[in-house]
Amino acid sequence: MGAEESPNQNAAIRQVRLVVERLARDGSVVARSDGAEHDVFPVAISSEEGEALRRWVLQEGAEQTLEIGLGYGFSALHICEGLLLSGNLAARHVVLDPNQAERFGDCGLQVLEDAGVRRLVEHYAELSEIALPRFLEEGRHFDLGFVDGNHRFDGVFLDLFYLGRLVRGGGVVFLDDYNLPGVKKAVSYFVNNRAWAIEESSTVESEHQWVVLRTPAEPSQGDFRYFVDF
Ligand SMILES: C[S@@+](CC[C@H](N)C(=O)[O-])C[C@H]1O[C@@H](n2cnc3c(N)ncnc32)[C@H](O)[C@@H]1O
Repeated sequence: MGAEESPNQNAAIRQVRLVVERLARDGSVVARSDGAEHDVFPVAISSEEGEALRRWVLQEGAEQTLEIGLGYGFSALHICEGLLLSGNLAARHVVLDPNQAERFGDCGLQVLEDAGVRRLVEHYAELSEIALPRFLEEGRHFDLGFVDGNHRFDGVFLDLFYLGRLVRGGGVVFLDDYNLPGVKKAVSYFVNNRAWAIEESSTVESEHQWVVLRTPAEPSQGDFRYFVDF
C-alpha cells in the first residue's frame, strides 16, 4: 500500500474492501434493477485471483486499465482497489460487457456504485471485437488489460491481438480461465510467436486458473516467414 494515502483515499479504499468482502461472504447480490437474486460465483473470479489482479495493478503502477467482461464486477472491484491504492488521481478503468443489463441485471455496475468507484469506470455495452479496434483508432493506450470475456480460441486470440496494440510496450495482460483449452492455445501463439512472456500463473487448483503475460517492450511484426507452431 502506498504510504501517502489521504484520509479520503483511505476511506475510498475501505469502501471498496467492504463490498469485496460482502460479496465474497454472501456469494450473491440482489439486482436493484428488478429485485432478482444472482449467485456471483463461480461466474466471477475467485478471491485469490482477485488479490493477484489487485497486486499486479498496484505493482505496475497502472493508471489506465481495460477489462473484457465485467460480469458481476468482482474482478473490476479488485482492479479499482489497486488503482486507488496506487493513488493516481488520473486512474481510469474501461470495462466492456454487452450483456451487463440483460444477463447480469446491471449487478456489476451496481457493486461498483456501492463501492464508490463508479466514477473511475467507463462502461461500454459492446463486444470486445467491436470496441477494441475503435479504441485503437482513437489512439487509446492502457497499462494493463484483463481478459475474462469470450473464452473461445478465436475470441481470445482477437482480444490478445488488439491488446498487443492497445497495452503499452512492456505492459501486462492478465487472463482468467487459463485452464480452458481455447484460452491456453491463444496464449501459446503470442508466447511462441510474438515474444510475450509468462510472468506468473495460478498455483491453486481451482475452476479458474489464471496467467499473467508481459508484452514485448518494442512490439514488432517480425519476419512474415517466421512461424512457430503452437
Ligand atoms: C465470466 S463473466 C466475467 C466475470 C467477471 N470477471 C467477474 O469477476 O465478475 C464473462 C463476461 O464476459 C462478457 N463477454 C462475453 N463475450 C464478450 C466479448 N466478446 N466482449 C466483451 N464481453 C464479453 C459476458 O457478458 C460476461 O459479462
